[in-house]
Amino acid sequence: MKSSAPGKIILFGEHAVVYGRPALAVPVTQVHADVEVTASSRNGIWIDAPDINLHAEVNTLPSDHPIASVIHNFLFISRISPFPNLDIKITSTIPVASGLGSGAAVTVALTRALLSHLDYPMPDEGINSFAYEIEKLHHGTPSGIDNTVVTYAKPVYFIKGQPIETFSVGNPFTIVIGNTGVSAPTKESVADVRKLWEADQAKWEGMFDKVGTIAKEARKAIESGKAKVLGKLMNQNHTLLQEMTVSSPELDNLVSAVLNAGAAGAKLSGGGRGGNMIALVEKEKAPVISEALLSAGATRTIITTV
Ligand code: MEV
Repeated sequence: MKSSAPGKIILFGEHAVVYGRPALAVPVTQVHADVEVTASSRNGIWIDAPDINLHAEVNTLPSDHPIASVIHNFLFISRISPFPNLDIKITSTIPVASGLGSGAAVTVALTRALLSHLDYPMPDEGINSFAYEIEKLHHGTPSGIDNTVVTYAKPVYFIKGQPIETFSVGNPFTIVIGNTGVSAPTKESVADVRKLWEADQAKWEGMFDKVGTIAKEARKAIESGKAKVLGKLMNQNHTLLQEMTVSSPELDNLVSAVLNAGAAGAKLSGGGRGGNMIALVEKEKAPVISEALLSAGATRTIITTV
């Protein structure tokens, strides 16, 4: 059985979302994780993940290995015994540690492929909460936004612990995503922010409130199709992310490059410190903005429509 899950970008509200403020995220279907589960003629559960050069039986991997932990936890919750012999092929075009949700996408695609192969029905809510438990194992204190947008594969207005809400798009808009090429695990930036928040909660709660207000206004601007307002809100959100210490010279450089090339707004997206940034652009300007990003040092760009 085959299953696929998309990448994602956070449009507004990363980090503050961990502290209960709203955030907006959308799937990015141009990149995806794909998993195929078939019956194996060998004993055991064999993983073949050529992108990360992994070819192994699951029990030979450390139990906290991201792929092994999905399978061990799946075995535990499914209570299927004895577990059949399986070949699991995993491929992904989502760059890792870049803020595009690669870990969540592999977890969701793998879980769905296992469920279909074993004829074990589970609603999206169940898959989402399972993926959240896996995210917690690897990412410390995640908000749950990554697994949610990847599981439901639709735009989400997300508040931690609340039922998922999607949002409508008044006027489709174009986003150019630029990868700094700097690998930056979300776990680290989330942990650093937590330390800083613990040291000065009043200051950080104030910054998170500002981000939350931006996310709420952004939802209204998206629903009423006001691209100019949206661009300004992106710039304001990026300034706050800089204050939160999660930007980096590479991200700031790409953000300046797209603003100079005529983008309506830009910000880092995801955990920060590296990974990806996003720019809001007029559709016809997207190729020019993409070129500007590559000239400024981006390793890859993706043009997507929300
Ligand atoms: C990561 O895509 C978004 C963060 O806000 C972390 C989280 O929400 O779990 C940085």
